[in-house]
Amino acid sequence: MPLKNDLLLRTINGEKTERTPVWLMRQAGRILPEYRAVRNSLSGFKELVETPELAAEVTIQPVDILGVDAAIIFSDILVIPEAMGLQYEMVEKRGPHFPETIKSAADIKKLKVAEASDVQYTIDAIKVTKKELDGRVPLIGFAGAPWTIFAYMIEGGGSKTFSKARAMLYTEPELSHQLLQMITTSTINYLKGQVEAGADLVQIFDSWAGILSPTQYEKFSLPYIKQICDAISEVPKTVFAKDAYFARGWFGNINCNTVGLDWCMDIAESRALVGENKTLQGNLDPCVLYGSEASIKEATESMLKQFGPTRHIANLGHGVYPDTDPGKVKFFVDMVKELSANR
Ligand code: CP3
Repeated sequence: MPLKNDLLLRTINGEKTERTPVWLMRQAGRILPEYRAVRNSLSGFKELVETPELAAEVTIQPVDILGVDAAIIFSDILVIPEAMGLQYEMVEKRGPHFPETIKSAADIKKLKVAEASDVQYTIDAIKVTKKELDGRVPLIGFAGAPWTIFAYMIEGGGSKTFSKARAMLYTEPELSHQLLQMITTSTINYLKGQVEAGADLVQIFDSWAGILSPTQYEKFSLPYIKQICDAISEVPKTVFAKDAYFARGWFGNINCNTVGLDWCMDIAESRALVGENKTLQGNLDPCVLYGSEASIKEATESMLKQFGPTRHIANLGHGVYPDTDPGKVKFFVDMVKELSANR
């Protein structure tokens, strides 16, 4: 199925395009009343993730409603720990919770390396979505970076410091590497399955990158992201490592095509560190969308100017916050389209 809108893929290739492509991290979700209507008819988040027809429906909603240039499959990074044998719960208004966590070698022994078929519902959701999108825009597959997944498996849920997970890297470095490798192999299997099912590109989310020192990151996160990027050769890869200022130069030298920036990262400095041969994605502060239309326009214009007309995918610097007015999100999308056209 040839894509009718392949702006995103041409931008990743470094081609000069008619305008800058735009999508938003967490675009499929609670900002849209249409999403909440589907979600409220179900037992919870997991039922939505695990029902391919409904996951496909909410994946496509932002394409129809917001006019974004890509869809991202509706799922979660935490499906991988579950596929490895560690169940998660999504607690209403509180976030993820793992009733069991990993504390010892014996706990790791109980886990397995996941295959894509262990996450068959998301694989099927990708197939349904591709069919229903009918080539309108590319579909993004995704997974968590091994370090971020490790952090949840050790900690058992969200945390300000993830101190248990960070401590494990010092107390049990070999065990840590063993678990990180199992997560990495599982993630490669899963992403390959997503690509086979039709994902046009994939993004790796290292949401907790910024809580590691550069030394620890180079040992416990970077090599595993590198392994994933080397293993997925069929489609372009994006790496988004939140708060990892120190890692930008390293990402310039690994086998990824796009580097995501958060809103605190200086754009010119990031370009210098990453180099000219990769595309950058980001990086508007999600809080800009709480402002007036005039201030959204000003911030968008400034962002577009700093990134320049090529090798930039417009996005936020992290996921859109759930209480953002969808009208403001649509305004941002429209502004990127208007202000970046024919430059
Ligand atoms: O981007 C998209 O629109 C696609 C869907 C998507 C979800 N989660 C759906 C979701 C993606 C790409 C993710 C990734 C994800 N999940 C990350 C990495 C990105 C980031 O934000 O740093 C992380 C850390 C998670 C783990 C997770 N899932 C948390 C911490 C939470 C609770 C807090 C929150 O943001 O809601 C979730 C739940 C979750 N994942 C929701 C959605 C739409 C909300 C659940 C609901 O509908 O009530």
